[in-house]
Amino acid sequence: MTKEKVIIIGSSGAIGEAFAQHYMQHDYDVLCLSRGEPPKAISSLQHINFDLENEDSIANAAAHAQSLGSYDKIIIATGVLHAEDSFPEKTFKQLDQKFFQKIFNINTIGPALIAKYFLPLLKRDVISKFVFLSARVGSISDNRLGGWHAYRSSKAALNMLIKNFAIEVQRTNPNARIFGMHPGTVDSKLSKPFQKNVSDKKLFQPTFAVQQMIKVIEEVRESDTGKVLAYDGSIIES
Ligand SMILES: NC(=O)c1ccc[n+]([C@@H]2O[C@H](COP(=O)([O-])OP(=O)(O)OC[C@H]3O[C@@H](n4cnc5c(N)ncnc54)[C@H](OP(=O)(O)O)[C@@H]3O)[C@@H](O)[C@H]2O)c1
Repeated sequence: MTKEKVIIIGSSGAIGEAFAQHYMQHDYDVLCLSRGEPPKAISSLQHINFDLENEDSIANAAAHAQSLGSYDKIIIATGVLHAEDSFPEKTFKQLDQKFFQKIFNINTIGPALIAKYFLPLLKRDVISKFVFLSARVGSISDNRLGGWHAYRSSKAALNMLIKNFAIEVQRTNPNARIFGMHPGTVDSKLSKPFQKNVSDKKLFQPTFAVQQMIKVIEEVRESDTGKVLAYDGSIIES
């Protein structure tokens, strides 16, 4: 039997690495993309360097991936919420042009460029899946607290792009399922500064979050394409 082929984009992150490890342990053919060196468990043969802020590097990575075949699943697990010296805004008065641009580059424009080069790599003869890691805070109807202006709006814009790409790809590859996922609050570099008010029960370890999301990814329906799903399979309204 031929192995299913999976690409994990952002394999150096907590969630990306847990996805890569899961699929490797389950005998998938796994290709990883990240900015730095491959994690220890990943051989350099399964790894391509890229930077979300460099379109040429995304195009080169896609050309390399295409030379290895077409794919059953492509998962984008990159993202940023804070930078070394900048934290999510509590008020509009803290908006900062550079931080705003950085957050949009990584959370919105980068994944859109990944889609530009990697959506054509999905298999067409079987059901294939393209997953964007999004976040519940990108939901406008679910926004009760405000704040985190750049991050929230970058994920809301990403959710619009997911819907747009799903509509467009449906015309040429009706077997493709394109959707976003909210992983829950997961222990990672991204969430580290914001964990103190999260109970242990609600702070997922990356392996647990990935196990939950994989169940949802396996069971995703045709009618879910273009939507954002939470780790428990529920739909997150726009
Ligand atoms: N953790 C949570 O509680 C939580 C909640 C909701 C949604 N999410 C979403 O889940 C996704 C994964 O987050 P995580 O918690 O796993 O965060 P993480 O551990 O901080 O991982 C972030 C990943 O993004 C990559 N990245 C950042 N800038 C990049 C660039 N310019 N080029 C290429 N890669 C870049 C990082 O690469 P480097 O290692 O090279 O920096 C790393 O692989 C994100 O989209 C996040 O918004 C997370």
